[in-house]
Amino acid sequence: MELFVDSADVEAIAELNALGVVDGVTTNPSLILKSGRDILEVTKEICAIVKGPVSAEVVALEADAMIAEGRRLAKIADNIAIKLPLTWEGLKACRALSDEGHMVNVTLCFSANQALLAAKAGASFVSPFIGRLDDMNADGMSLIADIRTIYDNYGFRTRILAASVRSVNHMSQAALIGADVATAPPAVIKAMANHPLTDKGLDGFLRDWAETGQKIL
Ligand code: G3P
Repeated sequence: MELFVDSADVEAIAELNALGVVDGVTTNPSLILKSGRDILEVTKEICAIVKGPVSAEVVALEADAMIAEGRRLAKIADNIAIKLPLTWEGLKACRALSDEGHMVNVTLCFSANQALLAAKAGASFVSPFIGRLDDMNADGMSLIADIRTIYDNYGFRTRILAASVRSVNHMSQAALIGADVATAPPAVIKAMANHPLTDKGLDGFLRDWAETGQKIL
C-alpha cells in the first residue's frame, strides 16, 4: 500500500519525505486554511519536495468552472492530481480532465455506487472517507472492502485511496483489505512506528547494556 501525507504543512511533509516513506500528498481546502498559506504557493513547494502525486482540490461547484480551476492547479507542477468532489458536476469534470490526460482524485466518496461512477468517469484515484463514516456509526472499512471487490470484479484501474484516516488501526486495516493508497495526517504516520513492547524491550536492553560496562564507540 502506498502512503500519502494528508497535510499542507511543508515542514511535516519534508520530514516524512526524507525518511523515504512518502509516496504522495493530499490537500484540501481545510488543510490549506490550517497551513495559513496561499494555495498556489504552498502546493508548488509541496510538489517540489515530493515526487509522487500531490492532490490539490477545486472549490467550484459547476463542471465548467471545476475544469477551469483544475487546469490552473495542474499548471503548478507535473505531479498534480486534480481533486474533485464526488458530485454529478464533479464526475463531468472528472471525465473531461481525465480525457485531457490529467490525474484526477475524486474525493468525498461515501458509497460503493459513487466509487463505481468515479471509476467509469476515468478517475485515477477515488477517496472514500473512512473516519467520517465511522463518526456516524457506519463502517468506513467495509466501504473500502466493497470498493476493492467491485474494482477487482471488473478490472477498474482507478486506485482506492483510503482517506479521513484517523488512527493506526485504520492504516493497518486499509492495508489488509487491499486499499492501493492510504492518506493520513503526519501524526498518524509517525504513530505507526510506536509499540509499547518496543519501548519496554529497549529499556531492558539498555539496563543490561549499562551493567556490561562496555562501549561500542
Ligand atoms: O483525507 C481527507 C481528510 O483530510 C479528511 O479527514 O479527519 O477531516 O475527516 P477528516
